[in-house]
Amino acid sequence: MGMRWIKHDSLASTNNWLSELLKQKDLHEGTVVIADYQDAGRGLGDHSWVSERGENLLMSMLLFPAFLSAMRQFHLSRVVSLSICDALETLGIEARIKWPNDILTSKGKIAGILIEHSITAGNIAHTIAGIGLNLNQTEFPVFHVPATSLRLESGKGADVASVGELVHTRIWSRYVDLKAGRTAALEREYLDRLYKAGVLTVFYTAEGAFEGTIEGVNDYGELLVRQGKETETFGHGALRMELEFDRP
Ligand code: BTN
Repeated sequence: MGMRWIKHDSLASTNNWLSELLKQKDLHEGTVVIADYQDAGRGLGDHSWVSERGENLLMSMLLFPAFLSAMRQFHLSRVVSLSICDALETLGIEARIKWPNDILTSKGKIAGILIEHSITAGNIAHTIAGIGLNLNQTEFPVFHVPATSLRLESGKGADVASVGELVHTRIWSRYVDLKAGRTAALEREYLDRLYKAGVLTVFYTAEGAFEGTIEGVNDYGELLVRQGKETETFGHGALRMELEFDRP
């Protein structure tokens, strides 16, 4: 059996490192890898994740959700997104979930999530949930979505390891709920936290712009957007939405 909490000064990517380690040894469910620095941190798609050394939470957590069919993998995204919001709430920050994997405050993006699954015979053999949560960094490069951090939001920083433990505890608690079948509450809370849900919003697709209202996300992780009387589903990458932040 493996360790439960692994800390590194520097790694290419905590997700990659955990995935490689799992090929070499048996690990406990819930094992966490944390790094002070990543030189090849990854985001969704071909995006990278850049973070100053020692300033922010860079963590990956291992789960074995064999009880979940691959089709229902989005439940894990709900669990992780809500857990980050829980942790931020404990730290006094109100956050929202921008589908599919961003955590936003009114000032910008405070965290990103990269969930990677290994699928065997239609079921999830293991999941690596990667989380980048900005804590103490106050200057960021210019991104398409402005970045923010706990310190920029509240004026106060936080100990990276303690926030890691907080996030770990929250993920585990919500994961236990998911395993026990308490999905209705998770879905309701997710919808309550979903950025722009129920609000008329401008969306952009390859065909052009349209106005619609987010109604939720289905079990397959597709966004449900109502336009007039019709509700359409969109996969990740099929649309962008207009984001609004407070002016600095
Ligand atoms: C995104 O916003 O596109 C997702 C960013 C996820 C970044 C985290 S940092 C820890 C873990 N290791 C990685 O290489 N990526 C995730």
